Amino acid sequence: MNNSRSMETMKLHEAFKDHFLIGAATNPWTLKKQSELLKNHFNSVTAENEMKFVSLQPSENEFTFDNADLMMSFAKENGMGVRGHTLVWHNQTPKWVFEKQDGSPIDRDALLMRMKSHIDTVMKRYKGEIYAWDVVNEAVSDKDDEILRPSKWLDIIGEDFISKAFEYAHEADPHALLFYNDYNESVPEKREKIYKLVKSLKEKDIPIHGVGLQAHWKLENPSLDLIRQAIERYAELGLKLHITELDVSVFEHEDNRTDLKEPTTDMLERQAERYGELFQLLKEYSRDITSVTFWGAADDYTWLDNFPIRGRKNWPFPFDEHHKPKQSFYELIKVARS
Ligand code: GLA
Repeated sequence: MNNSRSMETMKLHEAFKDHFLIGAATNPWTLKKQSELLKNHFNSVTAENEMKFVSLQPSENEFTFDNADLMMSFAKENGMGVRGHTLVWHNQTPKWVFEKQDGSPIDRDALLMRMKSHIDTVMKRYKGEIYAWDVVNEAVSDKDDEILRPSKWLDIIGEDFISKAFEYAHEADPHALLFYNDYNESVPEKREKIYKLVKSLKEKDIPIHGVGLQAHWKLENPSLDLIRQAIERYAELGLKLHITELDVSVFEHEDNRTDLKEPTTDMLERQAERYGELFQLLKEYSRDITSVTFWGAADDYTWLDNFPIRGRKNWPFPFDEHHKPKQSFYELIKVARS
């Protein structure tokens, strides 16, 4: 058997079993289409959209758990862990949450009650079955002159909407690990804001157990150095780190070609090299990093199709559109064995 043949039979999650869980974001479509791949290579799943506020409680006290339950059963049947995503976020949260029936804004106490009731209902339903929750997603601003991102949560409740969310989450499921999750997590200015926010929560004894690095990365950016600095900085907090939404776009932002029907050889080679370097780094810090989730599983489905450039297909994963291992996969296995 040649080397790549023998590697083909390796499972990603087994290869990294001494280091971290290997997760994938799923949705009802990929749970069907990619089910074999998911079962083979991943030991953790996250709902791409199905556990967001708007999906679970589209109108007040009317909870719709069907799609989330579908993923929970898939995970259970296949002995996989589940990462919960996400309880409090400025996006994909319905308008009713912040409004009275007449459309005027509700007050702080009323919004806190709605937050608590949502967190309670959702977390208690899956109590003991979800090892970690992204409690608050993307509360930090990308702008230089702003610390927290403007949002209705912040507007109506004030800065302590974050600590309240963690307190309610801890009450609802005291055993779940509670995470703050964000993107652009390796950009130094934003990294420092995230660091300060989480540090201040810890200093106030707020139950927070980890920082989620979304890791929507590209072939060149962010640099390996910046990623290392971010991991080291967050690790100083003494919390767990999860890589929560990993993908490696084969395009830089400004590349707006929409005519590619398949990735070029150069892209595939550079992506494999990049995945190799990234996992080498993650492995080095696997005392701190306990879970690595891709934001998808294979190139037949990615949110990066059409984003940020309409009509542009992307190929960000270690498995191709037919779920076959790419060069990136073989690099990962090499790193796991090294
Ligand atoms: C953010 C969110 C995810 C997802 C991606 C884009 O990173 O945390 O839930 O919506 O954007 O798909």
